Amino acid sequence: MNQFPGFAYRQGKLFVEDVDLSTLALEFGTPAYIYSKSALMTRWVELCGAFSALDFFPCYAVKANSNIAILQILAQWGAGFDIVSLGELERVLAAGGDASKIMFSGVAKREDEIRKAIHCQIGCINVESEYELTRICEIAQDMQTPVNVSLRINPDVNPKTHPYISTGLKESKFGIASQRALSLYDSIKNHPWVKPVGVDCHIGSQITETAPYIDAAKHVFAFVEKLEQLGIQLKHIDLGGGFGIQYEQEQPPEFAAYADKIAPLFANKSYQLIVEPGRSIVANAGMLLARVEYIKDTDVNEFVLVDAAMNDLIRPALYKAWHTLLPVNEDKQRIEKIYDVVGPVCESGDFFAKQRNMRELQSGDLIAIMSAGAYAMTMASNYNSRQRPCELLVEGEEVHLIRRRDALDELWQNEILLPS
Ligand code: LLP
Repeated sequence: MNQFPGFAYRQGKLFVEDVDLSTLALEFGTPAYIYSKSALMTRWVELCGAFSALDFFPCYAVKANSNIAILQILAQWGAGFDIVSLGELERVLAAGGDASKIMFSGVAKREDEIRKAIHCQIGCINVESEYELTRICEIAQDMQTPVNVSLRINPDVNPKTHPYISTGLKESKFGIASQRALSLYDSIKNHPWVKPVGVDCHIGSQITETAPYIDAAKHVFAFVEKLEQLGIQLKHIDLGGGFGIQYEQEQPPEFAAYADKIAPLFANKSYQLIVEPGRSIVANAGMLLARVEYIKDTDVNEFVLVDAAMNDLIRPALYKAWHTLLPVNEDKQRIEKIYDVVGPVCESGDFFAKQRNMRELQSGDLIAIMSAGAYAMTMASNYNSRQRPCELLVEGEEVHLIRRRDALDELWQNEILLPS
C-alpha cells in the first residue's frame, strides 16, 4: 500500500499531485495545510468498493476534517455525514450536504442542538443515554415532529488503541450497556414521534487490527437478535469509525479485510450497514507544510525550529503521536543527523518529533509533516495568538485555496474593550 498516495518525489522535489510544494510555500506562505483530492478519492473509492456487496452507507466523520470544501466533495460523492455538534450540522448544510443523510452522534447534546436536528429532519440521532432519550422524546412531542433514533450501545471491547481515543469500554462515558438499551428500545417502540430505526456502536479510533472491531460487531448482532425477539425490527446497524491508518510502522488492515469479516454477519439479514470513518479517509491525504526558521544546538540536543507549532497540529503534544517528516527538497549529499523538531510556542510539549533521524536541515528549508489531513486543522487553536494556517486543496495542476490564513485582527475580533 502506498502510504501517501497524493505525494511523491520528482527529481528530488516533493510534489502534491502535479504541483511542487515549494511553489505553494512561495505563493501561500507557511505553515499551510495541503490536501490531495486524488488521495481523498482513492480512499473513498477503496472504502465503497470494499463494502459494495452489502447495503452500505458510509457517513464521513466531520470532526476529522471539517473544511466545507472537503465536505462539499464528499457530499458530491454521495457521502452521508457523522456529526457531533450544531456547528458540524451547520457546516454540512453550508457545504450542500443533505440533512436526511446525517447521523448525529455525541455524548451530551444540548436542547437547541436536538431541536435543530429534528427541525431539519436529520437522518438519525445516535442516543447516548436514557436521559438524552427522554429529552429527545419530550422535544419531539413538543414539536409534534417525527425523529429517527438509534441507541449507541457500549460493547465493552478493548480497541487496543491510545487510551484517550478508546471509547467502547464499560468505564467510558460513551454509549449505553446492552441490557439497559434493550429496555429503552422497548419503551419507545410505540412512541408517536420517536422512531427507533437503528443501533450504533463506536469503540475507538486508530484501530490497527480487525479483531476488536469484529468483536464489537458480533456484540451488536447478538443485541439486534434480542430486539428481533422483542418484535423490534431495525433498519440499520452503524458500526462507527475507527479504521486505523499507517502513521509509522503500523500495518493496518485494508478496508476489504474488515468487509470480508463483517459481510457474513449480514448474510440473510436485511440491515443496512452504516460506518462513520474519518481518519481512514482524510489523514494521509493531507500534510502540514512548514519552514525551518533556525537550527539551534545545545550541549545535549540539536533543535530544528520550524514556523508551525502545537497550536497548528497538536497530535504529537497530546498523544505523543508520530508524524513522518519529509524534506521538500531531497538532497542525498547531506549527512544524516538526529534532531528534535519543535515549534515556536512557549511550551516544551511543542514538538513534532524527538530524536528523529533526518538529513541535515538548514534555515529556510521546507519540511512536510505528513498524515496531517485528519484531527489536525480541526484541532488547531490560536494559542500564543498565532494565526491558524491556510488550507489548500490540489487537484492535478490546479490549486484551490479552501481556507485563508487567519488575519491578525481576526484574533481579537470577538473581544470587547472595557469603556474608558
Ligand atoms: N464516530 C464517532 C462516534 C466518533 O467518536 C469518531 C471519532 C468517529 C466516528 C471517527 O473515527 P475515525 O474513523 O476517525 O477513527 N483526535 C484524535 C481522534 C479522536 C477520535 C474521536 N472520535 C486523534 O487525533 O487521534
